[in-house]
Amino acid sequence: MHWEESTKNKMLHLQLPTDPRWVNIAEMNLEEILVDHAYCEQKAASSCISLIVNFHEFDELVEILTTVVAEEWSHFERVLDQIKKRGYKLGKPRKDEYVIKLSEFVKKGGSREDQLVEHLLMNALIEARSCERFKLLSKNILAEELKKFYYELMVSEAGHYVNFIELARKYKNEEKVNTRWKEWLAYEAEVIRNLEIRDDRMH
Ligand SMILES: [Fe+2]
Ligand SMILES: [Fe+2]
Repeated sequence: MHWEESTKNKMLHLQLPTDPRWVNIAEMNLEEILVDHAYCEQKAASSCISLIVNFHEFDELVEILTTVVAEEWSHFERVLDQIKKRGYKLGKPRKDEYVIKLSEFVKKGGSREDQLVEHLLMNALIEARSCERFKLLSKNILAEELKKFYYELMVSEAGHYVNFIELARKYKNEEKVNTRWKEWLAYEAEVIRNLEIRDDRMH
């Protein structure tokens, strides 16, 4: 099944599309974009590992996120291959202002489930935005080989988005999750609106 069909009923759309100019400027600085992307994959894997460690009592979460960690790490490996084959270097990780801003919106306190759901929704949002950016890249980047690469990553991140949203709805009342999800979407749109478009960042 095409990814858009498989997720269309579950996909709650981002409120602000990425500025289409971003792809053109990103392609002109491919080394920086690939390095930033590699670290996004590393952070996605690390974030899932932290959730497993911090919320170990939720069996289904542990099981699903263990699979997601493996997939994110394989994405890291694939991006690293793209870096190496072009003679680029991995370089240092950069400050991720997008994720820092999103973290500020995580509500503290409440039950274990409340805390878990906040983190699941933040992760779902990062997956949704990554999916949107990969779609833009796969459609608009000029390098043919990278079109396929970004398309495959887009499909995978869409699956992760669904994993996070479904887990959130499993551990908390669905209506409350949907209300909070709308708040997260509105907040994320503001974050994107206020971030400058950069040629060296995935976000
Ligand atoms: Fe990924
Ligand atoms: Fe992902």
